[in-house]
Amino acid sequence: MQRYLDGILAEHAEVNIGALASYIPELARVDPTGFGLSLSSSDGYVYESGDADVQFTMQSISKPFTYALALDQLGHAEVDARIGVEPSGEGFNRISVDQVTQVPKNPMINAGAIVACSLIPGETADDQFALIREFFSACAGRGLDFDEDVYRSEKASGSRNRGIAYLLDSFGALGADPDDALDVYIRQCSLKVTSTDLARMAATLARGGYNPLTGRQVTDAAVVRRTLSVMVTCGMYDAAGEWVSAVGMPAKSGVGGGIVAVLPGQLGIGVYSPRIDAKGNSVRGVLVCRSLSQQLGLHFLTVSSEAHSAIRGMYTPRPGVRVYEVHGDLLFAGAEQVARTATGDYGDFGVAILDVSRLHAISDPARALLAGLADELQSMGKRGLLVDPGGALASDPATREALVFATVDDALAASERWVS
Ligand code: DON
Repeated sequence: MQRYLDGILAEHAEVNIGALASYIPELARVDPTGFGLSLSSSDGYVYESGDADVQFTMQSISKPFTYALALDQLGHAEVDARIGVEPSGEGFNRISVDQVTQVPKNPMINAGAIVACSLIPGETADDQFALIREFFSACAGRGLDFDEDVYRSEKASGSRNRGIAYLLDSFGALGADPDDALDVYIRQCSLKVTSTDLARMAATLARGGYNPLTGRQVTDAAVVRRTLSVMVTCGMYDAAGEWVSAVGMPAKSGVGGGIVAVLPGQLGIGVYSPRIDAKGNSVRGVLVCRSLSQQLGLHFLTVSSEAHSAIRGMYTPRPGVRVYEVHGDLLFAGAEQVARTATGDYGDFGVAILDVSRLHAISDPARALLAGLADELQSMGKRGLLVDPGGALASDPATREALVFATVDDALAASERWVS
């Protein structure tokens, strides 16, 4: 893995297309050759290659995390009333406000991000920023530093964003004073990360809000799902369609040269290379992500040859009794397969034993479906018994206690009541 990542970096090292962002003067002072790549596994092991310890400012990569914090603190309904989730198809600094609702199109463009900052709880801009910094640091697993020079530079040169903040204020779209909202926004853009921090932050999103390094649940899975959704549709601005087609990972770029990319359930990637293209995305960062996705098969819409069966085995331990062993992570589609097999598997058996003792995890809809299986079998004149020592299904109210056993042998002994 290490050799592979070093190779990917070497392959793109010579690319010098693109230019440093100069509209924030301080950003034009960084070393344009910086190039770092970090990849975190879902259990928090990080591989690093190149300048993985060089710090740079997050810029727009801050946006999904502040949006997540707003969702976490205020709830989805309140945030949805203030920020849309539609891709704008325009550049990051366009004043994309919905014609009808007058709220920003999405939280990844500056307008939406400034509104998100204005919604963060706090008496003052200092309080709001402190909460943001704490949240970002919790996602990264270490306290993030602040770049005073970049902050001052953007503050002094940010007429465009000031214009956006004041326009939003004129629509009544902000939750705070426009100068404060802008200040919090510029401060969050000036927080410093390394590519490794980004990989760790991505891994926290990949784990549904659980930081595998620190073991802290930073936010919940519903917040993460929403955040990743807008990263898919809007994270790369007017290059979002091309990005999803070629790379296929929820991601966010920043004009500081960073890209964060998430493969849900699997891994997190952070790349740094400060020369950016006309859309504000790191040129080498995009190329590296493309290569990784293609070579490692990371596209999130890749259809695997066939989802492996949820049913591990079926056998007839004695005449009239059929056992179904279920294993792995059971989601709705797997549960449907189990239920269909158990109810459709006609034969001369009168008792079906569902053995879920090897189940690793089960989603709520899958649990509800299987919990109703005993009733369904009964209506067909059969009996359904459950082997569930871990209580995977037994917690569902539809599961009747009398039909739950600790072992297949116990269930078999009980089945004698129905089969002779
Ligand atoms: O507001 C700005 O213009 C910068 N602080 C951030 C813009 C940015 O990173 C856009 N992303 N690629």
